Amino acid sequence: MGMDRIADRAIIDGKRFAAGLLDDITARVKKLEEETGQVPGLAVVLVGEDPASRVYVGSKHRQTLAAGIASFKYELPAETTQEELMALIDRLNVDPAVHGILVQLPLPAHLDANAVIQEINPNKDVDGFHISNAGRLATGQPALVPCTPLGCLLLLKDRLGANLSGLHAVVLGKSNIVGRPMVQLLLAESCTVTIAHSRTRNAPELCREADILIVAVGRPGLVRGDWIKPGAVVIDVGINRVEAEGKSRIVGDVAFEEAGHAGAITPVPGGVGPMTIACLLSNTLTAFCRQHAVNID
Ligand SMILES: NC(=O)c1ccc[n+]([C@@H]2O[C@H](COP(=O)([O-])OP(=O)(O)OC[C@H]3O[C@@H](n4cnc5c(N)ncnc54)[C@H](OP(=O)(O)O)[C@@H]3O)[C@@H](O)[C@H]2O)c1
Repeated sequence: MGMDRIADRAIIDGKRFAAGLLDDITARVKKLEEETGQVPGLAVVLVGEDPASRVYVGSKHRQTLAAGIASFKYELPAETTQEELMALIDRLNVDPAVHGILVQLPLPAHLDANAVIQEINPNKDVDGFHISNAGRLATGQPALVPCTPLGCLLLLKDRLGANLSGLHAVVLGKSNIVGRPMVQLLLAESCTVTIAHSRTRNAPELCREADILIVAVGRPGLVRGDWIKPGAVVIDVGINRVEAEGKSRIVGDVAFEEAGHAGAITPVPGGVGPMTIACLLSNTLTAFCRQHAVNID
């Protein structure tokens, strides 16, 4: 297996790219405020005490404010009822100061997450999980696109240029949050797309065909060096906490140290992860501009 050290230039620095994107968003928000007297607003709804969700929501809140976007944080008790949560969504749907609504998942088991997501006004659905946005993306119409795959696409284009047409992309994983919207984004770029998942019989062979390999499975180190074609661009979406030698660390779905022959690869952490919040704020800005019919490009 390719054991060559990964060259610095092959490492896709998502942290740096996300910081640049956040600077760009901050400048656009400022310009919007000067021109319209209004700022975009993002409402984030957290139900219950899940510690990881609390950390994510706290971080989203801080970065939202740092970009000059108004942040409305709703922290509801674990025993919140479906009716109470739906009523909050209904209020946010018509609140003119709120342009984006995000419900932090997972919700406590007694709540129906899908019903809550479908209640969100699709024009404010900055996670892009509403069926109307999923359908728009799948049929090539303007949509709010899920943040993580959107971040992956931006990193790909930064590395490969704007034209991905004709490249063979393999997407490992078919979740609604990452794999499926990633497939749709790559199809929209005219890539040839192969989708693989837990029942795929020859995943290593398929992956070896890929010019672009996107891995979103949640299995530490599943993709070995010999699954990767020399020169391929590898985007590792996985975030897995593993314990080794008494220490806990975060690793991806790709055996990073075996990928020395990849053309480029995202590290974990510091690759796709930082792009997700940046794309959430970008979606909030997009939602604001569409709701106010303004264009600040
Ligand atoms: N901000 C971020 O960077 C970000 C955001 C979201 C997720 N993630 C991370 O990305 C990973 C995937 O997330 P997700 O929400 O998409 O997970 P998910 O809903 O659990 O989906 C995992 C997908 O991987 C497939 N799979 C599982 N084992 C496999 C195997 N051995 N070979 C091939 N395919 C396999 C599953 O196939 P089946 O459909 O056949 O079961 C499924 O489609 C996780 O580590 C998650 O933490 C990161």
